[in-house]
Amino acid sequence: MKIINTENEWNSFLLPYTFAMAELKTKISIMNQEANLLKYYNPIEHINIRLKELESILNKLERKNLEPTLENAEKYLHDIIGIRITCCFEEDIYYMANLLKKRADLKVVELKDYIKNPKPNGYKSLHVIVKIPLVLSTRQKDIFAEIQLRTLAMDFWASLEHKLYYKHEGNIPDYLKHDLYEAAQAAATLDKRMNIIRKEINNIQDGYEQIFLPS
Ligand code: GTP
Ligand code: MG
Repeated sequence: MKIINTENEWNSFLLPYTFAMAELKTKISIMNQEANLLKYYNPIEHINIRLKELESILNKLERKNLEPTLENAEKYLHDIIGIRITCCFEEDIYYMANLLKKRADLKVVELKDYIKNPKPNGYKSLHVIVKIPLVLSTRQKDIFAEIQLRTLAMDFWASLEHKLYYKHEGNIPDYLKHDLYEAAQAAATLDKRMNIIRKEINNIQDGYEQIFLPS
C-alpha cells in the first residue's frame, strides 16, 4: 500500500510538525535563558532536533503492525518530532523535566525514566512525550513530540551504541554487549564524580555570594 500519493501530500502532512517543532524549540531555549537569568546557569549544553524520515515512519508502523497510512502515523507515532536535550548533570535533566511538567502551554503525556531504571544494555535517558496544541488560522491541532534528556556522558554512550547497533544490524556480539554495559557504568560513575565536583564549586560560589552579596 502506498502511504502518500504526491509530494504535496507529504509536505502538507509535515507542515504542522515543522511549526510545532519551531515553537517547542523556542520554548526550550527560553527555559534555558530564563534559568541563566535566575540561576546564573545554563542547564542545557546543546539541543538537537529532527523530524522522522518517511522510511523510519514506515518501518515503525510495520513494527507496530499498523497499516502504513499517514492517519496512523499521526495517530500512533508520538516521536515524529524528536528533540534531544543534552545537559551536563542529571540534576539539570530533572530541572528541565519539572519545568516541562509545570507549563500550561503543553502537556506531558508520558514519562519514561531510563535514568532511574536503565535499559538492560545500560541505556540511560529521560524520555518525555509532550502534547502541544498548535494554533493555526483555521483550526487547532494537537501535535506530539518526544523529548529525550541526557547528560553528555549518557549521550556519548548512546551515540556509540547506536552506531554499533546499526553496524551489526541489531545483533551486537556478546563480548561487545558486555563492554558496552561496562562503559555505561563508567559513564554513570563519571556523572556522579562530576556532580560531586560541581557541588564543591557551588559551595565556593555560595561562600563568595554570602560575602559579597548580603541578602
Ligand atoms: P517505540 O517508541 O515504539 O520505538 O518504542 P519504545 O517507546 O519502547 O521506545 P523508547 O521510548 O524506549 O525509545 C525510543 C527512542 O529512544 C529510540 O528511538 C532511541 O532514540 C532511544 N533509545 C531507546 N533505547 C535505546 C538504546 O538502547 N540505545 C540507544 N542508543 N538509543 C535508545
Ligand atoms: Mg517511544
